[in-house]
Amino acid sequence: MVVCVCNALKERDVRDAARSGCQSPLAAYAALGRRPQCGQCIPFARALIAEERAGQPA
Ligand code: FES
Repeated sequence: MVVCVCNALKERDVRDAARSGCQSPLAAYAALGRRPQCGQCIPFARALIAEERAGQPA
């Protein structure tokens, strides 16, 4: 599933970034070499990141 249409980021990209330690959509996008543009994807990206991080030790 595509998370961010502006950057063509897929759900898996964002989840991978979260598992590598990115704690926010901004950090995840930066790690993927992208930047939020319209911002519509941010809540969804944030939820995905929270979900990944919930499964990890803090
Ligand atoms: S959909 Fe992600 S910035 Fe527009």
